[in-house]
Amino acid sequence: MTRRLEEGKLVVASHNPGKVREIAHLLAPFRLEVVSAGDLDLAEPEETGDTFRANAELKALAAAQASGLPALADDSGLCVNALNGAPGVHSARWAGPTRDFDFALEKLRRGMIEAGLSDTSAYFVCGLALAWPDGHIEYFEGRVDGELTWPPRGENGFGYDPIFIPDGHELTFGEMEAQAKHRMSHRADAFRQLVDACFGK
Ligand code: IMP
Repeated sequence: MTRRLEEGKLVVASHNPGKVREIAHLLAPFRLEVVSAGDLDLAEPEETGDTFRANAELKALAAAQASGLPALADDSGLCVNALNGAPGVHSARWAGPTRDFDFALEKLRRGMIEAGLSDTSAYFVCGLALAWPDGHIEYFEGRVDGELTWPPRGENGFGYDPIFIPDGHELTFGEMEAQAKHRMSHRADAFRQLVDACFGK
């Protein structure tokens, strides 16, 4: 049976202040006190998994066991069908240590040309894991499908947003207002599932 989270402290297992802020915002309607892994000085485990699920679960579990509190972690990325799902869990790493997304987008474009460029379909995935100190884990996965386009368009968003057009739309995620993206994104999909299962009335 799905374990629910009633109230109290919740650790967001991330050292990225932007991500912690976004998650705290999404959880604002619930009676939870959000603290980050950074605030608690928790070590950041290496993302050694080869699936979104494995990485989200290992981050959530490490934070729950180190803090003695329930902990939430996410792992996300872009999967390109013509590249057999790459960059996938390596999405952040494709941008290198300086997080150079011009470099990552160019690497992707070259890979697509080598693959023949005919299939431009891709999807973003967001895996969300909620772990408790006793080792119990709940996992949810959100997804948004779309097409890749070149050249990149739009200054909003981050990462691969300027080349991704969600199905049924004409603007890239990089051209959309943040609120429009957030209504349809892989992260929103995963959070809806988490809230319904673990915090719902
Ligand atoms: P994570 O922080 O390990 O989950 O890395 C996720 C990486 O996937 C980010 O650095 C981006 O490269 C990519 N990514 C995930 N979600 C999005 C999104 O909504 N837009 C653009 N890129 C994303």
